[in-house]
Amino acid sequence: MLGKALVDKFRSQKSEVRSQIIPTDLPDLDITQSKAPEKIIGLNPTLVLHLAAYTDVDGAELNPDRAWKVNSMGTKNVALACQKLEIPILYISTDYIFDGEKCTPYVEWDPPNPISIYGATKLEGELWIKGLLDKYWILRTSGLYGKGGKNFVSAILENARKNHEIKVVSDQICSPTYANDLASAILQLLTLNSKLSTDFGVYHITNSEWTSWYEFAQAITEVSKINCNVLPITSFELDRPAKRPRNSRLCNFMWERTSGKPLRNWKEALNEYLKKHR
Ligand SMILES: NC(=O)c1ccc[n+]([C@@H]2O[C@H](COP(=O)([O-])OP(=O)(O)OC[C@H]3O[C@@H](n4cnc5c(N)ncnc54)[C@H](OP(=O)(O)O)[C@@H]3O)[C@@H](O)[C@H]2O)c1
Repeated sequence: MLGKALVDKFRSQKSEVRSQIIPTDLPDLDITQSKAPEKIIGLNPTLVLHLAAYTDVDGAELNPDRAWKVNSMGTKNVALACQKLEIPILYISTDYIFDGEKCTPYVEWDPPNPISIYGATKLEGELWIKGLLDKYWILRTSGLYGKGGKNFVSAILENARKNHEIKVVSDQICSPTYANDLASAILQLLTLNSKLSTDFGVYHITNSEWTSWYEFAQAITEVSKINCNVLPITSFELDRPAKRPRNSRLCNFMWERTSGKPLRNWKEALNEYLKKHR
C-alpha cells in the first residue's frame, strides 16, 4: 500500500527522480532468501526504500516464524546489501515497537518495549539497520491507510455497508496516517537531504492530532454518509490474538524540526481520501 503511494508520488514528479525509482516486490524479490542481498546489489541502487514487511499483526502471533523471517531476517538481508553498496536505507517501522503505557506521545528516543510479535520483529529490523549501517532513516508511522491495500478504512467501509451496527475499540489511541501524505513526507525528506544533508536517524511521521479507533470509524462512516451505528468496545472485550498499545501517539519532533511543519490533521487527510476513493 505505501509502496504504491510512493511509486505514484515519484512518478508524478517533474524532476529527474521520476525515472529513478525501481519498484520491486514478491515474487521478483523475496527479502527472506539468502540470495536477496545479491539481487538488490544487482539493481545497483543509490538508496533503498525498504517498505516490505509481514504486516498481519494478529497473524504474526499465530505464525511468529514467518513474521520473524520477513521483518527481522529480511531486513537484515536488505541492510547487508546497503552495507556492501555503502548506500543509505530508509526503513518504515511502527508505533507497535512501544508498549503504549506512556501517558504522553512517544518521542523518537523513548525506549521501545513491544508487546506483540509484529512489534518485536519490526524492532529487530530496526536493530539490524542500526547495527549494520551508519546511514539510515528509520521512519515510524501508525494507522496507515490508502489506495490498494487492506487497511482500517477499507475494512470499516466494507463492514459498515453490510451491517447496521459495528463495534470498534475505543481504548487504543493513534494518529491515523494517509499513505499519500507519508509518501510526500518521504520525498520531501529525501529532497531536503540531497540539498541540506538532513540528519540521518529515527523519525516519527504521522498525520497530526490523534483519535481512538472508535472515533476514527465514526468519522469514516459520517464522511461517507453510511447509515451504520458505530459502538465502542474495549480491547479486552474484543480479545484479538495480538496485544496492541493503548497509547500509540507519536510525537513528530524530528520531522517537524527538519521540515519546519507538521503533516496536516488526520481528519483533513481522511476527508480527502474518502472524497477520492469512497
Ligand atoms: N499498515 C499500517 O498501519 C502500518 C503502520 C505502521 C508501519 N507500517 C509499516 O509500513 C510498511 C508498509 O506497510 P503497508 O501497510 O504498505 O503494508 P503492505 O501493503 O502489507 O505491504 C507490504 C509489502 O511487503 C511485501 N512482502 C511481504 N513479504 C515479503 C518478502 N518476503 N519479500 C518481499 N516483499 C514482501 C508484501 O507482499 P504480499 O502482499 O505479496 O505479501 C507487500 O507487498 C511496512 O513496513 C509496515 O510494517 C504499516
